[in-house]
Amino acid sequence: MLTAYDATTARYMDTAGFPIILVGDSVGMTVLGYDSTLPVTMEDMLHHTQAVMRGVHAALVVADMPFLSFQVTRAQALVHAGRLLKQGGADAVKLEGGAIRAATVQHLVANGVPVMGHIGLTPQSVKAMGGYKVQGRSAVDADRLLDDALALTAAGIFSLVLEGMPADLASRITAAVDVPTIGIGAGPDCDGQVLVVHDLLGVETGNVTPRFVKRYAEVGAAMQEAFAAYKREVEGGQFPAAEHCY
Ligand code: KIV
Repeated sequence: MLTAYDATTARYMDTAGFPIILVGDSVGMTVLGYDSTLPVTMEDMLHHTQAVMRGVHAALVVADMPFLSFQVTRAQALVHAGRLLKQGGADAVKLEGGAIRAATVQHLVANGVPVMGHIGLTPQSVKAMGGYKVQGRSAVDADRLLDDALALTAAGIFSLVLEGMPADLASRITAAVDVPTIGIGAGPDCDGQVLVVHDLLGVETGNVTPRFVKRYAEVGAAMQEAFAAYKREVEGGQFPAAEHCY
């Protein structure tokens, strides 16, 4: 799985054969210039989900439920999840949180909304966690995360993102649940992996790049070079040349 926020990038991923594309609320930090995912709105998620859907033919598209779109009441959660499917065109939604969200997950699933869970380092709780910190390091916290995974599975999630936790804990959770786990900073034993597309491409967003990221390209550096070259050639009169003219 990879994140995408626009039609063109999603089309490349779909062509590469990705089974799942996530319209993450990381859009707030990668595209919209915020320093956390907290300001992201339902309207932002709908706008970017619709764009991704225009680029995708085969992949399953999962849309993130933004902060406070699912925490207040179950009824509100269903309305917001329903909008992501109905107006956004997404195939499923993802929401952050453990056992405390089980009743909401059950309500969404019972009403026809496929739900992906997300536990461990949950970025919407950055203020409660005191930063983007690895979770589940102590035995008590690890057991709590395992209980969270089991509660969400019992509530009906079809898949579970495990973020920012020790690899052996992710391995334990993966063995214990009967849905596929998708890891990000959670080691190699998850059933799948996910990265934020800007991190994988080497596009700097102004936020700290976590240690678990592997860069597969240096697109940010290529962009910077291309912008500088274009500016230089326009100012120097080399562009446009004869072949660019009518
Ligand atoms: O919003 C996002 O990009 C995510 C992934 C990091 C899993 O939730």
